Amino acid sequence: MKSVIDVVDLTVGEIDELIKIACDIIENPEKYQDAMKHKKLATLFFEPSTRTRLSFEAAMYELGGSVLSVSSAQSSSAAKGESIADTAKTVSQYADIIAMRHPKDGAALAASTNASIPVINAGDGGHCHPTQTLADLLTVYREKGGFENLCVGICGDLKYGRTVHSLIAALSRYAGIKFVLISPKELSVPEYVTEGIIKKNNIPFTETEFLEEAMPKLDILYMTRIQRERFDSEEEYMRLKDSYILTPDKLSGAKPDLSILHPLPRVNEISVDIDKDPRACYFKQVRYGKYMRMALILKLIDEAEKDGKTTVRGTHIENAVCKNARCVTNCERELEKLFYHTENGECRCSWCDTKID
Ligand code: CP
Repeated sequence: MKSVIDVVDLTVGEIDELIKIACDIIENPEKYQDAMKHKKLATLFFEPSTRTRLSFEAAMYELGGSVLSVSSAQSSSAAKGESIADTAKTVSQYADIIAMRHPKDGAALAASTNASIPVINAGDGGHCHPTQTLADLLTVYREKGGFENLCVGICGDLKYGRTVHSLIAALSRYAGIKFVLISPKELSVPEYVTEGIIKKNNIPFTETEFLEEAMPKLDILYMTRIQRERFDSEEEYMRLKDSYILTPDKLSGAKPDLSILHPLPRVNEISVDIDKDPRACYFKQVRYGKYMRMALILKLIDEAEKDGKTTVRGTHIENAVCKNARCVTNCERELEKLFYHTENGECRCSWCDTKID
């Protein structure tokens, strides 16, 4: 655990340990109030955020540490063309750990290979958002007491929602999980998730467009926002934006102990009338996100004192380029173009995991 780029870089044992630490922080906050005294967290946010940035900052303050913050691309030398690599090297001179959000897929990995301190991916384009998944897992754990034998419905934009892909990958490692994937056909889960994660792990799953039909089976309902910023066509976004709006009448067939999660921000997909339903967990999920980030900061700073830098798996292939227009290799010229082979023989970009021909 040098840096955290993707939730699947963490073993089930490491996730269990983080959950245990987070639960201990919830029960005994005073034990941790000086744990990060004299340590500094740098939050580098090149894309908008409310929860992730503020929860990282609240987490560090509650551990007795302090925070240095870049809250937009325009307020840093990125606006003058400074590379991610140079930013990471520079911030390593001031801080003990970095939490970074960036619009490019693979940006946090690029930062971690150049930083001399741990880097936490706080969202890299449409690629990964591991600390959101850790917050989701802690919420499920606190609500259900574990992860086994749950029927998990995931609804909304399953194509572009980075939290969805990470959550499926994380939950797929627990016994007895079932997924119900609820989305318009245009926004269904990408094949690399259904084939490469769900089917590969022999997880039972169904895909449907109808939320109410799926509702009675669900233990967890994970609602998501339609990701306007990832659409190429505004017209297509307008057509799909209100595909699902969860209102009290739609919960009539739901289990009494259903837990409703949402990574937030919500736009229109959960009516505010649901907020007072005891099954609504999304604001608790926000609070759990802070505890999970506290656990992660503690663990990574502890590990950093023992070990060195992040390395990237993969090899150089002559003339090969990543075709993902949002890949970090398209803006960071000095990054070596590296590729790796998956177990089923596909070749993928080491930075953003896009399949190449
Ligand atoms: N869930 C989440 O990542 O929220 P923010 O974009 O506000 O950080």
